[in-house]
Amino acid sequence: MKGVVLAGGLGTRLYPLTKVTNKHLLPVYNQPMIFFPIKKLVSAGIEDILIVTGGNNAGDFLRLLGNGKEFGLKRLHYTYQEGETGIAAALALAEDFADGDKLVVILGDNIFEEDIKEYVEKFEKQEKGAKIFLKEVKNPERFGVPVFENGKIIRIEEKPEIPKSPYAVTGIYMYDNQVFDIIKTLKPSKRGELEITDVNNRYLEKGELTYEILKGWWADAGTSFEAYYRAISLVREMYLKGKNE
Ligand code: G1P
Repeated sequence: MKGVVLAGGLGTRLYPLTKVTNKHLLPVYNQPMIFFPIKKLVSAGIEDILIVTGGNNAGDFLRLLGNGKEFGLKRLHYTYQEGETGIAAALALAEDFADGDKLVVILGDNIFEEDIKEYVEKFEKQEKGAKIFLKEVKNPERFGVPVFENGKIIRIEEKPEIPKSPYAVTGIYMYDNQVFDIIKTLKPSKRGELEITDVNNRYLEKGELTYEILKGWWADAGTSFEAYYRAISLVREMYLKGKNE
């Protein structure tokens, strides 16, 4: 399985912090934000990683991450997303890199406490389809929200005004190679982006979407200043407890 870290976009929700640098390079306590998703993939045994960057400071990713040696990698792959075209559009850029393999995709501003190795192994065994990861949150209306019926997800709604469950679809996704054909059929949403929620709904319609509920904390550091501050506090607590990422 290969890994993709999506770190494009302009980071407008954290402006003016993002005026001179990319959101994913901002510090989260003692490390740049993007270190967390990269280390999450590496500790799950993923050795082939593509970083999808964007914005005005894409060169800084190369300066910061280089060939990935610091993370124990032989090399890192990079590509560039133009504009704010959405998570699914960013993922489309990974088609050649994937070369038929299954993928773990992590949003560059998402920080997860839990180790994902066990889930990666589980998805290796899943014959086909996709897997998403849910977490109960206080403000589901800011996220993709699953709608349940008889204990099964029947659809996912993107940022619904009235959420039908207390769960958020977090920024870690696992896909088989069908994902690229699915993305080619998507139309831009109201916010003008190709939505990852639409990708997940297509898998759901095919009956090929599985899910897990995360046990550890999850921080989406890029959605607001409060979310960014919370991510920093959680990482700090983790360090003070002596758990190294
Ligand atoms: C995106 C997805 C949303 C998901 C969230 C997780 O939101 O569209 O479904 O719950 O990431 O971080 P965005 O950050 O683009 O608003």
